[in-house]
Amino acid sequence: MSETDLTRIGVSLPESLLSRFDEIIKERGYSSRSEGIRDAIRTYINHYEWISRIEGEKLGVLTVVYDHSKRGLVDELTDIQHHALGIIHSSLHIHLDEENCLEIIILKGEGRAVKDITDRIMALRGVKHVRLNTVVPNP
Ligand code: NI
Repeated sequence: MSETDLTRIGVSLPESLLSRFDEIIKERGYSSRSEGIRDAIRTYINHYEWISRIEGEKLGVLTVVYDHSKRGLVDELTDIQHHALGIIHSSLHIHLDEENCLEIIILKGEGRAVKDITDRIMALRGVKHVRLNTVVPNP
């Protein structure tokens, strides 16, 4: 199937997420909401494919924004980190506002293990943003 054959989908989104998305696509000059969504999905796929190819010894900087009031989330995040002591070197926690926390986690280890931790954190309910950047440990 080529990119010119289009399929319609229905998606449920929180109002606030959609209005922010609409503001951004307007600022960036997209011709339609659909065009913006297609571009966002391509970016998501590219990022996932890039993460999937991470191999070898990596130094990773994982940025996570989450809602700390979400039941059980803080415990799950802490649990994941306590079970990855060999990979997680340090973390920085910043209380952003009444509900949001920012955590920056420095990981060093096999690329697949770094990806695995990233995927597990990304899948938690209440996690709003996850970004992994990798740095070459010995450039
Ligand atoms: Ni906090």
